[in-house]
Amino acid sequence: MSLLSAVAVRAERRTPDIPLPSPAIRVTSGAVRSAPAAHVGAAPLLPVVGGDLPVPLVTGETRAYANLDYAASAPCLSDVAAHLAQVAPYYASVHRGAGYASRVSTARYEHARAQVAAFVGARADDVVVFTRNTTDALNLLARCVPGRTEDGAEGNESEGSTTAPDAGDVLFLDIEHHANLLPWRRGRHRCVVAGTTQRATLVALRAELAARPAALVAITGASNVTGEVLPLAEIVAAAHQAGARVVLDAAQLAPHRRIDLTASGVDYVAFSGHKLYAPLGSGALVGRRDWLDAAPAYLPGGGAVREVTLTGTTWADAPQRHEGGTPNVLGAAALGQACETLAALPDGALAAHEEALRARLVARLDALPGVHRHRIWRDSPDAIGVVAFSVDGYHPGLVAAYLSAEHGIGVRDGKFCAHPLLSRLGAPDGTLRASFGVGSKLADVDRLADAVEDLLVAGPRWEYAVVDGRWEPVGDTRPVPEWAGTTTDGADGAASLGGFAGTGGGSPCEHEARP
Ligand SMILES: Cc1ncc(COP(=O)(O)O)c(C=O)c1O
Repeated sequence: MSLLSAVAVRAERRTPDIPLPSPAIRVTSGAVRSAPAAHVGAAPLLPVVGGDLPVPLVTGETRAYANLDYAASAPCLSDVAAHLAQVAPYYASVHRGAGYASRVSTARYEHARAQVAAFVGARADDVVVFTRNTTDALNLLARCVPGRTEDGAEGNESEGSTTAPDAGDVLFLDIEHHANLLPWRRGRHRCVVAGTTQRATLVALRAELAARPAALVAITGASNVTGEVLPLAEIVAAAHQAGARVVLDAAQLAPHRRIDLTASGVDYVAFSGHKLYAPLGSGALVGRRDWLDAAPAYLPGGGAVREVTLTGTTWADAPQRHEGGTPNVLGAAALGQACETLAALPDGALAAHEEALRARLVARLDALPGVHRHRIWRDSPDAIGVVAFSVDGYHPGLVAAYLSAEHGIGVRDGKFCAHPLLSRLGAPDGTLRASFGVGSKLADVDRLADAVEDLLVAGPRWEYAVVDGRWEPVGDTRPVPEWAGTTTDGADGAASLGGFAGTGGGSPCEHEARP
């Protein structure tokens, strides 16, 4: 982009007549609602902890944090935090004590199960298993698929103990997060290459199902990279017609859209508390009991059994069968409360809020020459609050570092644990991803668009270098709270972000930044 056209972009910017969302927005249920009012998105939909967090810039100034990284981990809902403070005094072992606090903790834990079941519209005989997160939930289900043997040799098909030639076969698309891809590759599996349209993708999936029976179709509800929502009703219909069950990876969908197992026919759903405004390491797998009761215990140990002798074990039924060890009662309470708070939002309010933000961000980014948005399909009609984009001439890691250091904006960069998809999108070095939710507002996405525009016009004002595979501002003296760690680099010995650079903070699969 020439400087002249960049200046032209600058002159046009901040014009407020970016269109609001289109008059009719599809929601997962297929219902169509009317255009959101003009104020939609102007303020957060729900309060979150840290919503007004002041963060330091490399220049020494301070800004309110614009958290646009909800898809990685969403902030804690304020009422989840309040509820945790309420529960904390009663925190004690679950299912294991006669003491009053232990009984209260047990009641809270089991109530959370009911809250989770209601949140996903579970059938009466569905089971809610608490897990650590979506990855854990999908790995658990991978061990429950009947006839499936895991050989650990990824990419090989299992041989031997299966009862039928196709027993335990799992189908998934090539656009999945690694959590919904790697667990299936440990046994019999088929990866279906998605087409350039959702229509073509459905054709490919149906053809694969018709070619050979499968036990399970594992599908994400929404792409964690582009936010595009998948045609779930059609996928469920195709799978069921071919005799396969469906597991929905709802790590991204659950925080943005209502899920209804009963109405949709989805057999299993997996999701994570930390993406659903509920910290403390909880997640859930919800679905049909038969596979879960028949499978080997996921975590053999205390709580997963009825009786143990020196020579044998009588295992408990699900969910306890798969919840070995002391349960995470605060994690379950946080998840249960978050489910209840989100479920209490008026129908369509969440989708309308996020669509207002998404429409604004997309319109502003698309107006910037040199910015490219990524999408998987030409015909996807719906997307959640997740937008992937690249900026010409700048490594995504550098842009993310610049947004943080000079503007107080948090976005994600990298390959988002979806390497096959990133290759497909032609972005081998990764992209940027902005994501938002109930605590976000239009001003946050405007700040992001303004900052990207400034970058295109004037470049970064600070100097950046690659340290240990990550782009970092050179001489980063942004202070770190004392409780976060003691690594220092400032002359005064104070802890700073610069002191942490290169201390192994980057994920090995996400960043290979080259200067
Ligand atoms: C679509 C999708 N599936 C699965 C996961 C894994 O979630 P977790 O890391 O909470 O296990 C993620 C995480 O980003 C995701 O976006």
